[in-house]
Order: sequence, then C-alpha cells, then structure tokens
Amino acid sequence: MNVRVNGARGCALSRDASVRPRSIAARIASLAAALLMAASATGQDYGDTPYVQTPQNVVDRMLEVAKVGSKDYVIDLGSGDGRMVITAAKRYGARGFGVDLDRRLVTLSNQNAAKAGVADKAQFFERDIYETDLSPASVVTIYLLPEVNLMMRPRLFAMLKPGTRVVSHDYNMGEWPPDLTFTMDAPNKPVGRDKTSKVFYWVVPAKAAGRWRWRSAEGGAQRDFELLLNQNFQKVEGTLAADGKSVAIEDAKLVGDTLTFVAKLDGPNGARQEFSGRIVNHGIDGTVRTVRAGATQQGAWSAARTEVWEPRHYTLPPPTLVPPQ
Ligand SMILES: C[S@@+](CC[C@H](N)C(=O)[O-])C[C@H]1O[C@@H](n2cnc3c(N)ncnc32)[C@H](O)[C@@H]1O
Repeated sequence: MNVRVNGARGCALSRDASVRPRSIAARIASLAAALLMAASATGQDYGDTPYVQTPQNVVDRMLEVAKVGSKDYVIDLGSGDGRMVITAAKRYGARGFGVDLDRRLVTLSNQNAAKAGVADKAQFFERDIYETDLSPASVVTIYLLPEVNLMMRPRLFAMLKPGTRVVSHDYNMGEWPPDLTFTMDAPNKPVGRDKTSKVFYWVVPAKAAGRWRWRSAEGGAQRDFELLLNQNFQKVEGTLAADGKSVAIEDAKLVGDTLTFVAKLDGPNGARQEFSGRIVNHGIDGTVRTVRAGATQQGAWSAARTEVWEPRHYTLPPPTLVPPQ
C-alpha cells in the first residue's frame, strides 16, 4: 500500500506504509523548514508544496555539467516555474517537459515557456513525479528533498535508458555514488545561510552483471574467455579466465552502456589486454587492444552473456527514513 505524506506544507512524499510516519513527518518538517521559511519570506508561496527555485546560475551549471544539447530530452521532476526545461530549450535547443503537483506553477511555467518562445519545445504538466513516465528522458533534473530522491531512485533505474544523465541540486541519491559532485556559489539562493549549492551528477549504468563468454583466435589458436562481472551501481569488478588461468580485471569502468577494463592473463610482464565495448542487452561489441613486448595489436571483441546476475543495487532494501539518533 502506498501512503502519501504531505507534511505540514512539506514536499509531497509517497512511500511504503512500513516506514514510521512520525519519523517521516519530523524529517520532512526539518528538511523543508529552511525551504519554506525562504519561500514565505520572498512571497513565493504556492500552497502546500514547498517551492524554491534553483538559482539561475546553478540551473546553467547543472545543464552544462549534463552536456545538454539539441538532441536531448530533459525532464524536470517538480518543475517549479519551469526554469530548468525552459533554459535547456532556449539555450541549447533541447526538448522536454516538467511535472509539478502545483497547478499554478504548471500554468506559470507554460506561460514562461511561451514568453521565452520555446512553448513548442518545453511543456509542463500537472502530474505527480511518481506517476510520470521517465522513459523519453536523456537528462533528468531534480531539486527535491533527499527522501524523495531515494524514493525516486528505483524508478530512475527501472525507467531510464543506460547513459541517461541525472543532475540533482543539493541532495544526493544515498548509496548511488555520484560520477561528479561539487559545491558552487549561489548568491541568489533563497534558502540557506552560506549561499552555496551542491550539484550531483550521475550517468545511469547499463546492467552489466553476469557471466560473459567469447572465443578469439590468437596466432591461429582458439582461446575461450570467461568474464565474471559483479556490479553495484556503476562500480564493476570481476575476473577474466582463459586457459585455466583467472585474474582480477583492472581499471574496470562502466559509463552508461560502455564497459572498459584491463586484464593481464599472462602475469604482470605478459600481454596487457585492454577491452572496450558497448553492452546492448546480452551482447557486448567493441575492441580489444593487446600490448605485448612493446607491440600493439587491435581486434574486434564480441561477448555474449550466458548468465544474468542481479546487480547489487537492485537488491538494496528500500530507504529507511528514520533519522540517525
Ligand atoms: C524545490 S522546488 C524545485 C523547482 C524547480 N525544479 C527548480 O529547480 O527551480 C520542488 C518542486 O517540486 C514540486 N513537487 C514536490 N513534490 C512533488 C510530486 N510528488 N510530484 C510533482 N511535483 C512535486 C513542488 O511543487 C515544487 O515546485
């Protein structure tokens, strides 16, 4: 069963009934307090849901970090006055939409898009973020409470394509380590004393975990390879085996659907093999570069997944909203 907790003028939060409601309310109230005080102080009070704008210089930086371009489709979850998607459309020619529970903000956003001359590219809908189809996105922007980020995280993994960029203002995504994070000056920020904002950036990883196999012909001989890959969010580790030998892979990276790693099956002084490929469903296609005694060879690399394993982040328990004692 889903319970909607709309704390006293707090960000709407929908979550499982097993979470202690009093703790949620307390946590929301404290986290929302600063946002709300500033919202009231500046006269930007749009009803029950706290509304605080991301300062324009932070909007600009978030879109820059996500490398938004004309081919992108940007979805802003809780879109306020629409500035995120409108800026993406006006400055970069991107398309997209924003959703917000507050009808007045949705109307204002559509008016702002028309005024900016981007109504054909940027649309706004009165809709709950938990009922929004995120699948068209290539970029998702977020400025919501930390609990809401955690509640959204499984939906991001379920709906977003590998390679989709996610940028969040001020709040992280719990155990999902950001690919990039920084703090910047935000002199026009309506909340907080230090007038700074945090930015968090992630690239949604493909599902890479499992047993992968391929055969290659090296010097006329067939060689069978087996790669065992474990995954926790974008972090991957594992072993590569051939000819009865198995070594830990090195420098393994998963960025969106692109997997790269190094293997030294013949020991530290033997050949160094650098694998790089794109994961599409249960196949990898790419290249392998072999460096042996100073000579480099490059060839095609194709692997097939023979066993699919659940990445560790899919097995994480749902977020606990009880604040630390
Ligand atoms: C902190 S404001 C951010 C506004 C805008 N994204 C920005 O960065 O300037 C959060 C917005 O999320 C909206 N919101 C909160 N919970 C929501 C939900 N469950 N579904 C849709 N919108 C929601 C609020 O109405 C508010 O406008």
